[in-house]
Amino acid sequence: MPPPSSGGIALISMLNMMEPMFFDSVGWHSAQHIQMLAEVEKRAYADRSVWLGDSDFFEVPQEKLLSTAYAARRMADYDSLSVTPSDSIYPLNDRELADIQIETHESEETTHFSVVDKWGNAVSVTTTLNWSFGSYVTVEGYGFLLNNEMDDFSSKPGEPNSFGLIGNDANAIEPKKRMLSSMTPTILTRDGKVVLVVGAPGGSTIITTVLQVINNMVDFGMPVHDAVNVPRFHHQWRPDVIYYGPGAISHETMLVLRNMGYEFEPRYGYGEVNAISRDKIFGGWIGAPDLKTASHGAAY
Ligand code: DON
Repeated sequence: MPPPSSGGIALISMLNMMEPMFFDSVGWHSAQHIQMLAEVEKRAYADRSVWLGDSDFFEVPQEKLLSTAYAARRMADYDSLSVTPSDSIYPLNDRELADIQIETHESEETTHFSVVDKWGNAVSVTTTLNWSFGSYVTVEGYGFLLNNEMDDFSSKPGEPNSFGLIGNDANAIEPKKRMLSSMTPTILTRDGKVVLVVGAPGGSTIITTVLQVINNMVDFGMPVHDAVNVPRFHHQWRPDVIYYGPGAISHETMLVLRNMGYEFEPRYGYGEVNAISRDKIFGGWIGAPDLKTASHGAAY
């Protein structure tokens, strides 16, 4: 529960403080167990005394208190073998709180996010710098990077770009022309209602990644988590090979396909899918991040 209760923030901050602790070998209500919780609780309640109140009257630093950086800072003086007396645990002061840097993850290259609100409105967004840190040029005073999107143009007919994609006149460089992208932010509807919001980074593999998530769900009946997290493969015409992720194609299947004339090449990294799908049974929404990556889902 959010302010004016301290419950939600204190609970989550304590769970964050407990995150690095191992409970497997700790007996329930053993001295060790009680020491672990007591040390966490003291620290959370110390900050409760100063930093929590009705947020209509007091600016509660909610984001900070809920961050893992805060938990790490708060537990910096924790020792699993000793007691820190309450007299030496102070609420963090303004400066100490300000020094806590909240970690935000932003992809170095292409980012996809999917959103659905409580009314079922959906947004599917992909944005790209092309390669990591784009052109490495930051706009002074604004702090954002310029892309290196010129690579998405076809520099010469038949000449592959950095993703191995071939292009021609349609995608030749011309003044004021925009380069051909593979970004595929997608919303699937059934009877006018959103059933899937999906997209991914991954250069040339973006399109086949989204294709396979849809194919997995619609034609193979997979729940969205499986549809996103099963391994994938990819063919982009040139080179004439099937790229495959770890575990995507069994040895036997590959033998059959090799006999048919297909060539294979292992490849890592097939986009970080971020999908949301309607739960068929309960009717709510399920966020399905690609668990192999830094993606994550959240509900508010
Ligand atoms: O728009 C495109 O197709 C490329 N700029 C995408 C590049 C990309 O996804 C790289 N990151 N994973």
